[in-house]
Amino acid sequence: MATGSKILNGVHVLLGVSGGVAAYKAVDLASKLAATGALVKTIMTQNACEFVLPKSFEAVTASPVFTSMWNGPEDFRIGHIDLATQADIIVIAPATANIISKIANGICDDLLSTTMCACWDKPVVIAPAMNDKMWANPAVQKNLSTIKDMGFKIVGPEKGRLACGTEGLGRMSEAETILEALKNYISQIKKDCSE
Ligand SMILES: Cc1cc2nc3c(=O)[nH]c(=O)nc-3n(C[C@H](O)[C@H](O)[C@H](O)COP(=O)(O)O)c2cc1C
Repeated sequence: MATGSKILNGVHVLLGVSGGVAAYKAVDLASKLAATGALVKTIMTQNACEFVLPKSFEAVTASPVFTSMWNGPEDFRIGHIDLATQADIIVIAPATANIISKIANGICDDLLSTTMCACWDKPVVIAPAMNDKMWANPAVQKNLSTIKDMGFKIVGPEKGRLACGTEGLGRMSEAETILEALKNYISQIKKDCSE
């Protein structure tokens, strides 16, 4: 059942976009999030910028997009810590095999992975997307299991046609499904806080 449309109003959502073909679907997610009244900040990896331009996210969220450790906020606070601290909830969509593995192993070699290292104890939703063979890789599954144990919620992937032309498990869930997962998560947190 659909969760109330106002639940994300005023919620600070940090959207992480990593370098997979499904990055274009993340623009739709960002747009739908902004329409709920969520305050969306976006971090894109350098590889994500090969698929979609930061301007697309800036346009739909009316907020700057962060792509580098070294172009921090203008008030000279430390960007990755600031972004981590301000977020009420984090969503990574699409989540590549690479970013899942970096988070699971505490690797911090770009803005997204470093920010994630600083907010592992916050509500995090991960929407993986990759080739089915990559998804089935035992190393990827082990890393996934690690982030599940850390409390991260995983949405998808789903079965269907993949960018490489084959059918299999690896498609990123649609924006509506990810949005619903975020609403449910925030709704549960608000309920827990009021009890
Ligand atoms: C055309 C193309 C499509 C790709 N799609 C995916 C994908 O859907 N999922 C994935 O895990 N990696 C995909 N990759 C590989 C990643 O871009 C690569 O592993 C990269 O290092 C990920 O970096 P990031 O996690 O920092 O964004 C793709 C690469 C190319 C060239």
